[in-house]
Amino acid sequence: MMETRILHYEGIDSTNLEVTRLSQKGAAEGTVVVADVQTAGRGRRGRAWDSPKGEALYMSLLLRPTFAPDKAATLTLVMALAVMEAIAEIVPDGCGIKWPNDIVIDGKKVCGILTEMELQGQEIAHVVIGVGINLNQTSFAEEIAKTATSLRLKTGKTIERFALLDKVVYYFKRNYEVFLQTCDMRILVDKYNGFLVNCGKEVRVLDPQGEYEGVARGINEKGELLVEKHSKELVSVYAGEVSVRGIYGYV
Ligand code: BTN
Repeated sequence: MMETRILHYEGIDSTNLEVTRLSQKGAAEGTVVVADVQTAGRGRRGRAWDSPKGEALYMSLLLRPTFAPDKAATLTLVMALAVMEAIAEIVPDGCGIKWPNDIVIDGKKVCGILTEMELQGQEIAHVVIGVGINLNQTSFAEEIAKTATSLRLKTGKTIERFALLDKVVYYFKRNYEVFLQTCDMRILVDKYNGFLVNCGKEVRVLDPQGEYEGVARGINEKGELLVEKHSKELVSVYAGEVSVRGIYGYV
C-alpha cells in the first residue's frame, strides 16, 4: 500500500499549489500537505475556496500514477468515496455523495474536492487531489450560507481535524489500491452508488450542447453518471464536460 508522509503548515496560499511545487522539486507519491489556513484556497471552475483558520480541514495529496491521463479524472471519485467513508463514522445519517465529488449533509455541501493533473508529454507527471472539509464552522459567508454546512452544525460536536485527516488518508489508500487493480471504478461502483444522493432523483444536466433532464441511475465503471432521459434513453455523463443539478435544489 502507498506510503504517506504528512506535512503540516500553519498557513499557505493553497495546499494544492504547495503540493504542486513540492512535486516539481521531486516529492514522493503519498506526500500530503495540510494547512490551518489558506490565503488563496481554490475551488473548481476557477472559483475561490473560502479557507478560514482552523475551522476546516484543508489537505492535498500527491499521486504519481503510471496509467493513461484520461483515467485520472476518476481519482476524484475515489477520494470522494474515502471522504464519505471517513465522515460516515462521525455522521451516521443524512450524509452522501453528490456526483461527482461533493459530500453533502441534508442536502448541503460539507466537502469539496479539486483534482489537478500535470502532464509530461503523453504521461502523467503528477495528480494533486485537494480536499476541503467544513468541520467546526457555525456560520458561513453570505454567498454560500444557503448551500454549505459543517460537521459541527450537523453533530453539535467539535471535530478533531487530524483524526479526520488520518481517516481520509486511510480510506483513500484502501480505495486507491482497489482502483489500481482495474484502473477504473469497476470494483468500487457499488460502494460509491450506495452513497450517491443523486440516485433515483431527477437531475438537470447542464451540457453546453444542450440541457436536458432525467433520472440519475448511478455511475458506471468510468465514473460517468448514468442518466435516464424521459425518453428512456440511458446516457452517460462525463464529469469534465457538464454539471448536474437537482431539479428541486442543489442535490
Ligand atoms: C470545489 O470547488 O468544490 C473544490 C474545493 C476544493 C478545496 C480544497 S481545500 C484544500 C485544497 N487546496 C485548495 O486550494 N483547494 C483544495
